[in-house]
Amino acid sequence: MNNVSFEDLSQVQQYALIDASKVLEHSYNPYSHFHVGATLVSHAGELISGTNFENAAYGSCICAERSAVLRANAMGIRKISGVAIIARGATFDTEEPTAPCGSCRQVLYEVSQISGSDLWVVLSSTKREKIILTTMSELLPLAFGPLDLGIDITRFQQ
Ligand code: THU
Repeated sequence: MNNVSFEDLSQVQQYALIDASKVLEHSYNPYSHFHVGATLVSHAGELISGTNFENAAYGSCICAERSAVLRANAMGIRKISGVAIIARGATFDTEEPTAPCGSCRQVLYEVSQISGSDLWVVLSSTKREKIILTTMSELLPLAFGPLDLGIDITRFQQ
């Protein structure tokens, strides 16, 4: 887990972070007013973004990260290299990088195993003055995934 500057990121990580900061403007967040953007990078270099979509039944809120994963899946893309995540409040910028919630970590771990590689993860504060470069295995150590069930997920790789 490293604190890095925007310039330290690879070009595709920079593009992903810029993309995530654009998509958070489409956040549907009438309850929390918290805007989150997440952009996945596929093995082929495609950027697939998602943003949080809230619900009057609060437990039905969908986070930006899972929204990006579902969008990629619907596009027929399951092999992912990494993800960039960024957020802002309605009236404030975040001073620290926003990290994925526990449920999103579990879903992103599934994506790691389908992809056959540990995902890189870029977490950023709103103005990009604090950025952390980490991996899914660091964010969710000793994780439980499809391989633990002895499931062959290779036929789902696309
Ligand atoms: N949220 C995300 O979209 N991703 C995260 O990693 C943390 C939380 C959303 C869910 C909810 O819409 C709002 O942020 C406040 O929790």
